[in-house]
Amino acid sequence: PVLVVDYGAQYAQLIARRVREADVYSEIVPSTAPVADLLAKNPAAVILSGGPASVYAEGAPQVDPALFEAGIPVLGICYGFQAMAAALGGEVARTGVREYGGTPATLSGESVLLRDQPAEQNVWMSHGDSVAIAPDGFSVVASSPGAPVAAFEDTARSLYGVQWHPEVKHSTHGQDVLVNFLRDGARITPDWTTGNVIEEQIARIKAQIGDGRVICALSGGVDSAVAGALVQRAVGDQLTCVFVDHGLLRAGEAEQVEQDFVAATGVKLVVVDAVQRFADALDGVSDPEQKRKIIGREFIRVFEQAARDVVAQVAAEDPGAGHEVKFLVQGTLYPDVVESGGGTGAATIKSHHNVGGLPDDLAFELVEPLRALFKDEVRAVGLQLGLPEAMVYRQPFPGPGLAIRIVGAVTPERLEILRAADAIARAELTAAGLDRDIWQCPVVLLADVRSVGVQGDGRTYGHPIVLRPVSSEDAMTADWTRLPYDVLQKISTRITNEVPEVNRVVLDVTSKPPGTIEWE
Ligand code: XMP
Repeated sequence: PVLVVDYGAQYAQLIARRVREADVYSEIVPSTAPVADLLAKNPAAVILSGGPASVYAEGAPQVDPALFEAGIPVLGICYGFQAMAAALGGEVARTGVREYGGTPATLSGESVLLRDQPAEQNVWMSHGDSVAIAPDGFSVVASSPGAPVAAFEDTARSLYGVQWHPEVKHSTHGQDVLVNFLRDGARITPDWTTGNVIEEQIARIKAQIGDGRVICALSGGVDSAVAGALVQRAVGDQLTCVFVDHGLLRAGEAEQVEQDFVAATGVKLVVVDAVQRFADALDGVSDPEQKRKIIGREFIRVFEQAARDVVAQVAAEDPGAGHEVKFLVQGTLYPDVVESGGGTGAATIKSHHNVGGLPDDLAFELVEPLRALFKDEVRAVGLQLGLPEAMVYRQPFPGPGLAIRIVGAVTPERLEILRAADAIARAELTAAGLDRDIWQCPVVLLADVRSVGVQGDGRTYGHPIVLRPVSSEDAMTADWTRLPYDVLQKISTRITNEVPEVNRVVLDVTSKPPGTIEWE
């Protein structure tokens, strides 16, 4: 792999993704990992990421110079670039000129890293310190107003560095820098393609499961669908998928799982109709955390029972063959793996529920075919496996579903109102071609609020619907999306005309923070 050493900024994951976009497999490692551990992974190259520290600050992460003796190509970025300069005998100084954001860079001389690029280009900078003097053996190949040494390279030792952030799209030739490093600097063959990922995962799944039996809980979301489809490709009918219909999905989503997904994959599917059970459990509950806890708890109970039924059925079909159901598929993604390794003690804002949130004491061995993948890779795999596009590009949707988009107690009637309004909003956003510009657009029913309106000469006393369109990179922070007025108008007119219980449509113009994306 190409190892991306994480110096603690938010950029390491982005670098790893960009490397993969160049068809090269990458992994993230913490900056505390000793060089011996990095070398044990037999890396084709190492990239040192940016980070918030100053190289001379107390406790700032350093690079062990041994890394540069190992004969492995290294690219330092931002902090990684400075740490590299310091470790190799160059000089890093606080010049007093800080650069943040778009900055003009001027290239100079022959360069492998910057080959075939315009001599003047816009790059994305974020630094206080600068490299003042490059280490011996390095040639300086770019500069900027605040960074006399903005890029350097020692092609004999395959060591490269840039002060700016090539992984950020605002650096106009950023991806070219990474590609030049990987192809020409490190001579890596680009072979990380969707087709290869699928083949490799199928081989792994087969090796893990052998002739055992496996189950997978489908949520309607892309991760569990792609994970299930991959396992189906690998072991066919040894897999049983379980779909717990809790009645809290949006219009058409249960059918998408039960019909389209099954048709596309040939998966053996068990549908558990738990609509009434969830309705009973949620009856009269309006506290958001309580709703979340109830849904999480009920889901586990229903799924456990379904799993026991599958086990019993397999045993009945195949008595004494020893084909127990030992495995459970989970759609864990690479960012979850990286982040849970990070172990930051973030405060619990909401108790999240998703299909992955099954308790540890379920006696299954986990099969996690997406553990190495980023979300965009999961989508590419899904498309290649022939899953419906609507499923592959589905926007994030919370595990507790529409229950946490009804402010107030959940009832079947309220669910129907919200489903109708949500379907209209989704259809109009799709028709306007906005699906890929929006991270997600929760549609929320303020069920306990009523306001007076007038329609067809008569007084109405109905509920408001809130539109919550947001733009985001990762749902950790978000901004409200400036939707075109004509689209908003169309959604508003249609909802108030077509959903009788709703007489107002309002727009949520709050970023996150201070608001969260969902209302509950
Ligand atoms: P918030 O509302 O916390 O949401 O800003 C951040 C992202 O997470 C989604 N979300 C959930 N996803 N189970 C999930 O799988 C949950 O319980 C849950 N709650 C919120 C939300 O839609 C947004 O994308």
